[in-house]
Amino acid sequence: MTQHYGLFINGKWIETQENNEVLNKYYGDLFATVSKASEKEVDDAISSAEVAYKETSFSPYERYKVLHRVSDLLQARKEELAGIITNEAGKPIKQARAEIDRATQTFEIAAEEAKRIHGEGVPVQAAPGSENRMAFTIKVPVGVVGAISPFNFPVNLVAHKIAPAIAAGNTVVLKPASVTPISSLKLAELFEEAGLPEGFLNVVIGSGSTVGNQMMEDERIHYYTFTGSAEVGEKLKQNTGLNKLTLELGNNSPVIVDKDADVELAAQTLAQKSFAYAGQVCISVQRIYIHEDVREQFQSAFISATEELQVGDPFDPDTDVGPMIGEKEAERAEEWLQEAKGQGAEVIHGGNRKGSVLEPTIVSNVDHAMKVVCEEVFAPIVTMMSFTDLDACIKEVNKSDYGLQGGIFTSDVNRAFYAAQKVEVGGFMINDASQYRVDLMPYGGVKNSGWGKEGPKYAIEDMTEERLVVMNLQG
Ligand code: SIN
Repeated sequence: MTQHYGLFINGKWIETQENNEVLNKYYGDLFATVSKASEKEVDDAISSAEVAYKETSFSPYERYKVLHRVSDLLQARKEELAGIITNEAGKPIKQARAEIDRATQTFEIAAEEAKRIHGEGVPVQAAPGSENRMAFTIKVPVGVVGAISPFNFPVNLVAHKIAPAIAAGNTVVLKPASVTPISSLKLAELFEEAGLPEGFLNVVIGSGSTVGNQMMEDERIHYYTFTGSAEVGEKLKQNTGLNKLTLELGNNSPVIVDKDADVELAAQTLAQKSFAYAGQVCISVQRIYIHEDVREQFQSAFISATEELQVGDPFDPDTDVGPMIGEKEAERAEEWLQEAKGQGAEVIHGGNRKGSVLEPTIVSNVDHAMKVVCEEVFAPIVTMMSFTDLDACIKEVNKSDYGLQGGIFTSDVNRAFYAAQKVEVGGFMINDASQYRVDLMPYGGVKNSGWGKEGPKYAIEDMTEERLVVMNLQG
């Protein structure tokens, strides 16, 4: 039987007059229904977060305990939550299980960080006339955090927003992607079971951009954390005045395969990391630059490794590449491919689409004017280009408007560190793909990929204010 879910506002489950349908992304049938928020529910959610922030005391130790419990509960319900991700996001089940393991870590790390939020001593005595003063800083929460999360990691990218916000003592209004809302509501259930005080987490679901627009314009929200397109990120920045925000936006990750690379390692790794979750990961490999000396060897190893990937039903435990989030998105990716072909590109592997499933696709003879290279493709499509001179290659790599993560395969440490300094990205991987992330590390980009860092320790720094306290010593 299809399950129905309400919204989570002020610690209660709220039904509304309209429902949204959530579809299984592979078969297209109805998976669940969820109450749809009107302006009133969004307003209630923000009020509840504001009141909780102002009136409820929630000590760092209590925050630690709640987040730690959520981490345990999530692991205990791993199969249920992974199944929800596979249904509503179409993510292959083995990758959905890996996402739950990562989110378990994200909550645990945030729990630990809740105990380490501290300021520092400030030596004001060293200023002339301040000999009798002492000073230190403390870290205080920013207040109400508005979190807007994407469809592609419906548990872990939500965890990356709400766990540090709560660890820092903030309250949250969360708007998950309307195509994958059930994972967030399940997380709300876990927080309820773990004893989170009322109002600290509120989950509202709309359709299109209505809820997000309302959140952007509400002055009771003090801080925004958003993952999604550069277009929406820019709008958020323009509409949120002087409020602080973290933006995780688009990307078209580059990886260099240098002349002295371990070609087999590069081919195996890049096949996995270009096509996992049908390329719908912000750090998916999209542009591979291969040194002419190893081009032929790499190309044949890469095609072989790609041929080994299993494509199809995401509930099959062996599936590597499932559907895209919708048929419209797969059609859009196919159009970009056709356009590139019209401009001279050659599809050397894959390229066929059935419904929302696009085969892992490798494209060569490309240049930086083509959309499949210069824009974020967010599909199982990877492009290959050649180079002979590393400096010239890095110049090409940096032609992108984006800069989230990149990488190089080489056995020459000098060339590796040189590239690490020159490639314009927020994170650079040596002998690995751009798609490497563990949840304690700083994660965030430069250029149009956004700003601010995720990773609980780094997000907590952004989600707290530094307050100076100065004591004028008497006597
Ligand atoms: C993203 O798509 O930005 C998230 C990638 C990840 O957490 O692995």
